[in-house]
Amino acid sequence: MNVKFFPSLLSANFGALQSDIYQVENLVDGFHFDVMDGHFVPNLTAGAPVLEWLKSSKPFDAHLMIENPEKYVEDFVKAGARMISVHIEVLKEPLKTIQKLKDLKVKAGIVFNPETDIDDHINVIEAADFVLIMSVHPGFGGQSFIENVLEKIRKIRALYPEKDIQIDGGINAETVQKAVEAGANWIVSGSYFWKNENKAEAAKILTRN
Ligand code: DX5
Ligand code: ZN
Repeated sequence: MNVKFFPSLLSANFGALQSDIYQVENLVDGFHFDVMDGHFVPNLTAGAPVLEWLKSSKPFDAHLMIENPEKYVEDFVKAGARMISVHIEVLKEPLKTIQKLKDLKVKAGIVFNPETDIDDHINVIEAADFVLIMSVHPGFGGQSFIENVLEKIRKIRALYPEKDIQIDGGINAETVQKAVEAGANWIVSGSYFWKNENKAEAAKILTRN
């Protein structure tokens, strides 16, 4: 499967986001925009008004680590997100929210925290355009990769050979190999990518090209 790379803007320079985006957009497949509310995760980031100012020839992928995400999805679509993922842990009616995202003509993603089992939610995975498997506890960049989430990726890949499976958290030159071998095809990386002096080389390593 073709591996795609989405740098997480969380580890970019928030004072110069647009120039960071322009600098690397030819190397990447889209930009992962982390949204945190201080409730679902113990940290705050930026919301739709910030995304609205950002421009790129590549799509923006909004990862909503927030409670009641269904209330905000229209704002993120208007702000330019082309992919939106919501956490299974906070959704009262996951299938309804996935359908809402599809009706809004964005790629609909369902996210699983490291400790959340997928077995009770296979119908939601089936309905979603993509699945995001968290390989750290969401909230911060720069954490270590939690290897046992690979089992979930293997299970989903076996059930759905064509499903886009994204992985987020602790991805570097070493862990990306394991993630792709398990079946992930969309790679998110924050600190490893932005700290790397040679972005072209880092992007190559992360897509194993
Ligand atoms: C964590 C965010 C990630 C984060 C990943 O809560 O969802 O997207 O930026 O950062 P690294 O790659 O540093 O683990
Ligand atoms: Zn993320």
